[in-house]
Amino acid sequence: YGDHRALHSFPTRRSSDLIRTLSDLDLKGQRVFVRADLNVPLDGKGEVMDETRIQAILPTLRHLADHQCPVILASHLGRPKGPDPSASLVGVAKRLAELIDGTVLFPGEVVGERVTSTAEELKAGEVLLLENLRFHPGEKGGDPEFARALRDLADIYVNDAFGTAHRKDTSTYDLAFLFEQRAAGLLIEKEVAALSRIVEDPERPFVAIVGGAKISGKLEILKSLIHKANLLLVGGGLANTFLAAKGYQIGKSLVEEDLLQEARNIMALAQQRQVMIRLPTDAITTDRIDSKNRYHIQVNVIPVNHLIADIGEQTVGKFQADIARAKTVFWNGPMGIFEKSGFAGGTRAIAKAVAACEGFTVVGGGESVAAVHQSNVADRINHISTGGGASLEFIAGNSLPALEALAL
Ligand code: 3PG
Repeated sequence: YGDHRALHSFPTRRSSDLIRTLSDLDLKGQRVFVRADLNVPLDGKGEVMDETRIQAILPTLRHLADHQCPVILASHLGRPKGPDPSASLVGVAKRLAELIDGTVLFPGEVVGERVTSTAEELKAGEVLLLENLRFHPGEKGGDPEFARALRDLADIYVNDAFGTAHRKDTSTYDLAFLFEQRAAGLLIEKEVAALSRIVEDPERPFVAIVGGAKISGKLEILKSLIHKANLLLVGGGLANTFLAAKGYQIGKSLVEEDLLQEARNIMALAQQRQVMIRLPTDAITTDRIDSKNRYHIQVNVIPVNHLIADIGEQTVGKFQADIARAKTVFWNGPMGIFEKSGFAGGTRAIAKAVAACEGFTVVGGGESVAAVHQSNVADRINHISTGGGASLEFIAGNSLPALEALAL
């Protein structure tokens, strides 16, 4: 296994000790622009439904308040094509004010007169939250005028938006270079340190668990994990394509027909590298996607009118035993149709198994993180990443634009 670096090398600048951090800055009393990822789910009335990402930037905000810094905070939310009240950050401003028990000013625009005058009057420890950056067309494509308008609001740039670190947006990339003093916040520092431990020198055995609906978005991470992990546990919809590629008839289960050969290539690569890919041997099936009917069936005898909705108990048992022996675990993606309680059992069992593992454990991706919370085991996971896509890109060894901009 020792040759994995040669086969898949990583730019060392992504190591946690090679990006600029808050300790590199001369903060005292300076006006700081903080790019955060406050892309949180809102309910129909604009209230925050999951505040994990808001909580995650509190250490950085506290640190800046301790150094008497006025803070100009900015984020995107959703993928609006322009101003859209349903994607406003107003609800986030309200919740943030409660969480920091302090002043959060919300002028309701991204850039403009009100923002400029509020920023100028901002006092030490106060926060000014800009409106959703994606309401402005300049956020995409590195618009120099937009970057300059944001630059003029502050003296120092801090990026703590780990969840958006894989996006080369104006505020995550171009803007950083306009500041002589720029650094990662405490969240990015923590994320990079934890994920680097997996990428650079994982303790073995390293067990990677990959699930989710489709194989298409995860080809790269699967290939990359074959170069790093000792064992890959595959569940969720993407396991179906592997099963079909091996010749199993799996009824009406979702299969990406155009990726069958790609799945075979991945299995061949794993064999060549002596990495085991463990696929489900039994499943919970149903007869219709909207049905509550559940059947426990071996994957080699799935009826033509059934579809796989979760991993079965025999598979859960094998996955649990593998996870228990691991010294490093990385998990991304649910094992079945997790949003339906009848088919969430496999995913929840994996959450508990990861929590019980004594090795170093990292979970990333919305649904796996939700499963960890629902199973009340979050405090027993070593690192819960705030980045789904970003953590996958990082582990796949791809360069993350936001981190590039903070390289020493
Ligand atoms: C995320 O939730 O993955 C990040 O906030 C990035 O959002 P995006 O995929 O819309 O760029």
